[in-house]
Amino acid sequence: MVDINKIKNNIFSVSSLKELEELRVSLLGRKGEIQTLMQGLGKVPKEEKPILGAKINEIKIEIETLIEAKREEVKAEELKIKLREETIDITIPGKKNTFGKRHPLTTTMDNIKEIFIGMGFSIAEGPDIETSYYNFDALNIPKSHPARASQDTFYTEGGYLLRTQTSPVQIRVMEGTEPPIKIIAPGRVFRSDDVDATHSPYFHQIEGLVVDKGITMADLKGTLLAFSRELFGQDVNIRLRPHYFPFTEPSAEMDISCFVCKGEDSKCHVCKGEGFIELLGCGMVHPNVLKAVGIDPAIYSGFAFGLGLERNAMQRFKINDLRLFFENDLNFLKQF
Ligand code: DAH
Repeated sequence: MVDINKIKNNIFSVSSLKELEELRVSLLGRKGEIQTLMQGLGKVPKEEKPILGAKINEIKIEIETLIEAKREEVKAEELKIKLREETIDITIPGKKNTFGKRHPLTTTMDNIKEIFIGMGFSIAEGPDIETSYYNFDALNIPKSHPARASQDTFYTEGGYLLRTQTSPVQIRVMEGTEPPIKIIAPGRVFRSDDVDATHSPYFHQIEGLVVDKGITMADLKGTLLAFSRELFGQDVNIRLRPHYFPFTEPSAEMDISCFVCKGEDSKCHVCKGEGFIELLGCGMVHPNVLKAVGIDPAIYSGFAFGLGLERNAMQRFKINDLRLFFENDLNFLKQF
């Protein structure tokens, strides 16, 4: 017969469901101890069979009951351990998420875009790699023109160059759109300049172009005044100084009154005592430029302007070295 006390002890000392299942198979399984006993019945005298059979059955039921009870116990214990292991320790310090910040150039660019979008302009884009036709010829800058030398750039094979200004986008837009046109074109430009505190071979401009019937210099001035006041404050004034650009006639440079000293500090570090700060170039679109894109200058007129993003951001944030924008020094960038 089997030693029922030993079996009870074995069941009692089990500590995992896996162990318990192994024990169950060894006792009640097809090749287990109880089955072996059942098979042994064949050799027992006929009259003892029912008694012995009933006894074995009794043991079997007892073992089954014990195992089931133990299974519930082990399950509860395993759950307890699992819960304990998964407890969250709320006293451990959390991991700090450090948020990045927008680059001062991005912030400035976004502000400028928002102002013009608010005035009904849409955004146009052109390629960084241009042909000399779009970058110069169509903008009334023929091969012999001195402006080509002052905007020297990087040429590649096949007549392509890195654009020196965003003005070629004017041509691309006018070629593909019937007036009225009202766009700004922000983007990267390139020149073969050596790097110093105010120069970089790579910088950004925002071009503006409005073409329609009856556009005058008053529209240009009104638009630029509204823009300047939005960006630098409502008390800012502007002035236009006559200038020369090949693609505009008349042309001007636009200054804003100093938003720091308001023209009252002869030692102001922003306007250097001038009372005004140079902001952008502008003018009325030259008839030759309109002709180059098939727009009749007798019917349509327009104004254009172009401003440098880096210089604008330097004035706004009082940054004295252009190189800081491109060095990705976190100590610098964190300030904005
Ligand atoms: N493209 C000129 C530059 O890079 C800036 C400029 C001046 C653009 C006058 C204009 C403009 O559209 O009308 O120096």
